[in-house]
Amino acid sequence: MTTNPKRYTVTAALPYANGPVHIGHLAGVYLPADIYVRYLRLQNRDVKFICGSDEHGVPITIRAKREGITPQQAVDKYHELIKQSFGEFNISFDVYDRTSSAIHRETASDFFLKLYNDGKFIEQTTQQYYDEEAQQFLADRYITGTCPRCGNENAYGDQCENCGSSLNATDLINPKSTLSGLKPVLRETKHWYLPLNEYEPWLRAWIVEGHKNDWKPNVYGQCKSWIDQGLQPRAVTRDLDWGVPVPLPSAEGKVLYVWFDAPIGYISATKALTDDWEKYWKDPETKLVHFIGKDNIVFHCIIFPSMLKAHGDFILPENVPANEFLNLEGDKISTSRNWAVWLHEYLQDFPGKADVLRYALAANMPETKDNDFTWKDYQARNNNELLAILGNFINRAVVLTEKYYEGEVPARGELTDYDKEVLGVLEGMPLVIAAHIERFKFRDALGELMNLARLGNKYLADTEPWKLIKTDAARVKTILNIALQISGSLAILMEPFLPQSAAKLRGMLSMNPAMWADAGSAELLPAGHIIGKPELLFGKVEDAAVDAQVQKLLDTKKANTIASATVAPAKADITFDDFSKMDIRIGTILEAEKVAKTKKLLKLKIDTGLDQRTVVSGIAEFFSPEEIIGQQVSILVNLAPRDIKGITSQGMILMAENADGSLAFVQPGKPVANGGGVS
Ligand code: 2FM
Ligand code: ZN
Repeated sequence: MTTNPKRYTVTAALPYANGPVHIGHLAGVYLPADIYVRYLRLQNRDVKFICGSDEHGVPITIRAKREGITPQQAVDKYHELIKQSFGEFNISFDVYDRTSSAIHRETASDFFLKLYNDGKFIEQTTQQYYDEEAQQFLADRYITGTCPRCGNENAYGDQCENCGSSLNATDLINPKSTLSGLKPVLRETKHWYLPLNEYEPWLRAWIVEGHKNDWKPNVYGQCKSWIDQGLQPRAVTRDLDWGVPVPLPSAEGKVLYVWFDAPIGYISATKALTDDWEKYWKDPETKLVHFIGKDNIVFHCIIFPSMLKAHGDFILPENVPANEFLNLEGDKISTSRNWAVWLHEYLQDFPGKADVLRYALAANMPETKDNDFTWKDYQARNNNELLAILGNFINRAVVLTEKYYEGEVPARGELTDYDKEVLGVLEGMPLVIAAHIERFKFRDALGELMNLARLGNKYLADTEPWKLIKTDAARVKTILNIALQISGSLAILMEPFLPQSAAKLRGMLSMNPAMWADAGSAELLPAGHIIGKPELLFGKVEDAAVDAQVQKLLDTKKANTIASATVAPAKADITFDDFSKMDIRIGTILEAEKVAKTKKLLKLKIDTGLDQRTVVSGIAEFFSPEEIIGQQVSILVNLAPRDIKGITSQGMILMAENADGSLAFVQPGKPVANGGGVS
């Protein structure tokens, strides 16, 4: 293992260009990768941060079909949206490419051909699932069924997202086509397979023995379990019309499996970035790190490394820091159920607050287990931590310096034991935070950063320079000098986590460009240095703002319930005569009041065009009397009068019922004269 690498290649999983990105993507992959890379740059390391859109595979064709557009149109649309979102959250890729680019097609084809020519594949004609109605083979997400490993009923043909297993479609129990919903039939087709079983001894030595101590336990554990269960040959081609065509004369209508071409996308994106790309992929002194979500572990730890090994020219990943999943308000994030906080929407609601979301997600990052994002936690992270601890400390230090010394950093005098202790903690902090980041423990790193701000706050609260200024002005100079050194270090150390706020703080302190090694110094802002004007780093997040987000989610949940509700079966047929016996008219509600001692009943006076009559209706739980006066409704006027709670009800209002039991009036689409018949 390279202990002191010459350079780094850091990749973040290529997101499918089949939809916008959400907080789960950010917390799981892109934020930790960005923190790591920003830290490495501050350490003056040579690093390339690589990403791009994954534009092939069934996830794309399914989305295009759903939207009634071509796959190319779908990837064009989502590639741009995703790229923009990453930019807005300051994810600092050196390149954000796409796998539909010419350079990628060529790189992926060449990679395949090299393995083919070197005899690394086995060619097999096997029976695969075919949808007779759609007239196509069913690869990957075109087929679902029960996972043979964990029993999840919605496993895909290539993977179970519940247990992470990589599957062949023929492994599924009760397979079903997602195109027609039908049970597929088996048909013969020829494909090329990477015999993963042959790589098993090597994988065991490389991962199980070689990475026991440095890979995260969740990643190591999954890999070991797959290797222990035994690996099978894995098809690397598909019968599909969207993807990189298999570059062989006998392979018409076949493309590379998306999980074969996508990771090669890291290499092609590096090629697109720099002519010098080879040293980032072929020099053993380069450290390759893949940031991914847990559902990608098998592909990055078993399949892609086997491909790289088979190819022979490339380095292997030294670490694959996969995160677990982030849930939202107690429920799994889901694109199809619209249960997500979409990055492009967040910034519309919270303009300028990219760092606040970065902070809330980093502080709650699902590093070792699935975690939950809640809007209350988001608000508390902002108000009680960013604002009350970090922002408050900086503000005090800068405002007091402005007030007492017109922005000039005062010189320190003699140091007390307390001063020395604080400067000692400051000096050690860059190393402490670095150690956490290098071990991919971003939450701990952020915790220490905030501890430094806490220490600054406590130091000012304990020493009270605003009181001392009247009695011991010399001492105040020392205190504010120390507070400013802490502030300057914070501006450097917070950059990986909060890049926008760090830039603002550096501007406020008029700092020269600084590196990680400069942090912790007691001379970072020398006496006599003039700082800028105080500005607030963070603003308050009000209750109303987070309540609106919670309401948005409740509305989504309600819409989902309605959409997924099973519709009651149709009633038995009636004759036209039966129907024509009903006299339904349009009327207007003139008066409405609650029926005393009941929860559900409203007494209504309705102008039916025929007369003004009283109707008792069980709608009080859904409508207040005031809101319905003046509304037009449909009323069955020839229903025999009934006595309800001592009131004679003459007719019945027609209501439509939602899946959640809530009610809506059946109303004309535009105003109709009272008494108009409904037929
Ligand atoms: O899970 C996903 O979103 C995949 N598109 C990740 C691909 S990572 C890499 F291999 F390209
Ligand atoms: Zn499973």
